[in-house]
Amino acid sequence: MSIYLGIDIGTSGTKTLAMREDGCILASATETYPLSTPQPGWSEQNPAHWWRATVKTVQSVLKEARAKPDDVEGIGLSGQMHGSVFLDKSNRVIRPALLWNDQRTQAECEEIEECAGGRKKLIRLVANPALTGFTAPKILWLRNNEPRNFDRVRQVLLPKDYVRFRLTGEFATEVSDASGTLLLDVRRRKWSRKLLSLLELDPSLLPEVYESDEISGRVTPAIAAELGIPPGTPVVGGGGDQAAGAVGNGIVRRGVVSATMGTSGVVFAHSDEVQIDPEGRVHTFCHAVRDKWHVMGVVLSAGGSLQWYRDEFCQAEVKEAARKGIDPYELITAEAANAPAGCEGLFFLPYLTGERTPHTDPYARGAWIGLTRRHGRAHLVRSVIEGATYAMKDSLEIIKGLDIPVKQIRVSGGGARSPFWRQVQADIYGQKVRTINAHEGPAFGVALLAAAGTGAYRDVVEACRATIATVETTAPKSADKKVYQAAYPHYGRLYSTLREEFGEIATLVGQR
Ligand code: XUL
Repeated sequence: MSIYLGIDIGTSGTKTLAMREDGCILASATETYPLSTPQPGWSEQNPAHWWRATVKTVQSVLKEARAKPDDVEGIGLSGQMHGSVFLDKSNRVIRPALLWNDQRTQAECEEIEECAGGRKKLIRLVANPALTGFTAPKILWLRNNEPRNFDRVRQVLLPKDYVRFRLTGEFATEVSDASGTLLLDVRRRKWSRKLLSLLELDPSLLPEVYESDEISGRVTPAIAAELGIPPGTPVVGGGGDQAAGAVGNGIVRRGVVSATMGTSGVVFAHSDEVQIDPEGRVHTFCHAVRDKWHVMGVVLSAGGSLQWYRDEFCQAEVKEAARKGIDPYELITAEAANAPAGCEGLFFLPYLTGERTPHTDPYARGAWIGLTRRHGRAHLVRSVIEGATYAMKDSLEIIKGLDIPVKQIRVSGGGARSPFWRQVQADIYGQKVRTINAHEGPAFGVALLAAAGTGAYRDVVEACRATIATVETTAPKSADKKVYQAAYPHYGRLYSTLREEFGEIATLVGQR
């Protein structure tokens, strides 16, 4: 039997799965770890936790899959993007890694734009503007704020690439994750010497860049023995969690787009060419498919808005669900279904943790607007679901505006598990939405990349064709679609009306 391991170094935990060559998942395991917030807006993790979770989950899936050591043919790595692991000359971690959702680097983003000669020039160099979550501003933050630590840095790695280093001893990354550092020339798929030099950063700090299905190293004998796999097992490039998740959803050809509603919401479109949003509202990164790119919009609190609602207002539902052994969201969405589409003029802005797409505004805030005495709990919760979905539609509209066709939308994540939320998505997007037969996301995507990269398939497109199929289609209901078409422009204007006030509130509470 041939087995491929997909390892996803997530923010809340590491998930590993063992996949048979035909795409069947034999076993999967997750190991969680903490996230630390030493100051407001900071977000850090200890890379040693990722490594421990990797070892544990690999050992556990091999046991569950009853694999013989020689069965393992390849490994693919995925992970939270943009994080910064700083290593010293002895390859020791210098300080906890700064993560994708860390917001401390606004000053460094401005510094980068200035060094590049302005936002437009920066976008021309690396296809994207400087955002607080990206890696380059984190490196500059270390130089500006912890110069003694910065002087010790010899290598900067992304989260999954630190795990690769522990597995293989190689300093390597791949194009999709490297795109999110802001230091990659996304068009040419290699580090931007130009930007590195403008920022006075030594290129030797960065690892070798591979394609996502290319073999980037082999597991060392000592680690192989610890994990119970053959020494020399190939480790392919893999992908940042979004590109890897897209592979796991079969988003590997023009016209097919995914809308993934997790804590954050991501709209991801495959693109045959480099398509850049001159305003920098969506990200343009290399895809995990050779010579292809992707454009994606990131909504920071999509499912996260409903999680917040559940945690703050639904203690009774959570208890009842526990008693009945069901998911509390079943009860919560059932209540939402009692309100009409459009919530009789009630809107929810889902910017609970600021926003990336389309506003790139760390100070944006959430809001309910349009409350009257007629509105009750059903309206409140339905408006949260609608607001998060309008935010996803914003990304879809920008993508369509870049002349990227959106012929098929594949939905996944929490927002796709609920039939009610799937219907709201179809109605708000104004288009059919489909689900697929695979639900394992990034870990599955990189297992497919490992299979393709080690010769089980001709390429990753063929691997997806052989293993992924759509299963269910939800079509828009025309009456509700009309309600949303009329309401959507108002949703868009509410943020612009409040933007300045959000900034003032941030100052008021010392957020800036
Ligand atoms: C993508 C992004 C997140 C992180 C964490 O740009 O910031 O998806 O990768 O999952």
